[in-house]
Amino acid sequence: VKPYVICHMVTSIDGKILGERWGRLPRVGDSGKLFETTAASFGVEAWLVGNTTMKEFAGPPRRLPAATGRVERKDYVADARARRFAIGADAKGVLRFQQPQVNGDHVVVLVSEKVSDAYLAHLRAAGVSYLFCGRRHVDVRRALRKIGARLRLRKLLLEGGGVFNGSVLAAGEIDEISQVIAPIADGGAGITSVFDIPGPPPRMAAARLRLLGHRTLPGGVIWLRYRVLGKPGRDGNRGRQG
Ligand SMILES: NC(=O)c1ccc[n+]([C@@H]2O[C@H](COP(=O)([O-])OP(=O)(O)OC[C@H]3O[C@@H](n4cnc5c(N)ncnc54)[C@H](OP(=O)(O)O)[C@@H]3O)[C@@H](O)[C@H]2O)c1
Repeated sequence: VKPYVICHMVTSIDGKILGERWGRLPRVGDSGKLFETTAASFGVEAWLVGNTTMKEFAGPPRRLPAATGRVERKDYVADARARRFAIGADAKGVLRFQQPQVNGDHVVVLVSEKVSDAYLAHLRAAGVSYLFCGRRHVDVRRALRKIGARLRLRKLLLEGGGVFNGSVLAAGEIDEISQVIAPIADGGAGITSVFDIPGPPPRMAAARLRLLGHRTLPGGVIWLRYRVLGKPGRDGNRGRQG
């Protein structure tokens, strides 16, 4: 069963997500702190990100030693009983880990079958789990169902970045969006945004939403929660109901 997916992000008012461009926010601090405190309030035991975001938590890049043999293309769960999971999508095998946790959360990497034996051996040696989620790419639909089955997760927070969020949105796999809006207008054309669907822009917007709730936080921050309803209909208002 697919876990319930809540996409939680901190954005500027124009939907950009590179918080290091925002400086210190009066009565808030930095965007990272705002992200962590709001995310923690969900009490959800797993988070899922793309590999650019996971690199910020992983070890430094390094060349891997050649593999000593073929590693079977079979899912490997090193710690199924972990209390919390940090899950990263890495189709090509570019992440490196020195330990099996990120901030105490057990690391699980979603890989494609094209990653090298050396990479799989590296993950095993580091005690990191991995799940095969496609031949050349990470198929997000398949990945979410595997996460549900192998890790027994019912809910997870999808935490960026824009490209990976975009893929999950385009696949119709996001159930809820939690957007924390900082009082910042970024304005930079091409700056990563909350959803950057890979490839040419789809003809229509990706999803209609229903507002579930809103709150004002100190420092002029607004926190919105939406349920994802489905794709907009061709006439602009008749879509799949949720
Ligand atoms: N403000 C916030 O709340 C917030 C939250 C999180 C992140 N961020 C920021 O967002 C930035 C990174 O965002 P980003 O959009 O550049 O990168 P990203 O979404 O973190 O990672 C994108 C990469 O994930 C890999 N990936 C694997 N499977 C994928 C799939 N099915 N679909 C799409 N990508 C897949 C791709 O690399 P391969 O093809 O090589 O696998 C892709 O290039 C960072 O600066 C981070 O700090 C902000």
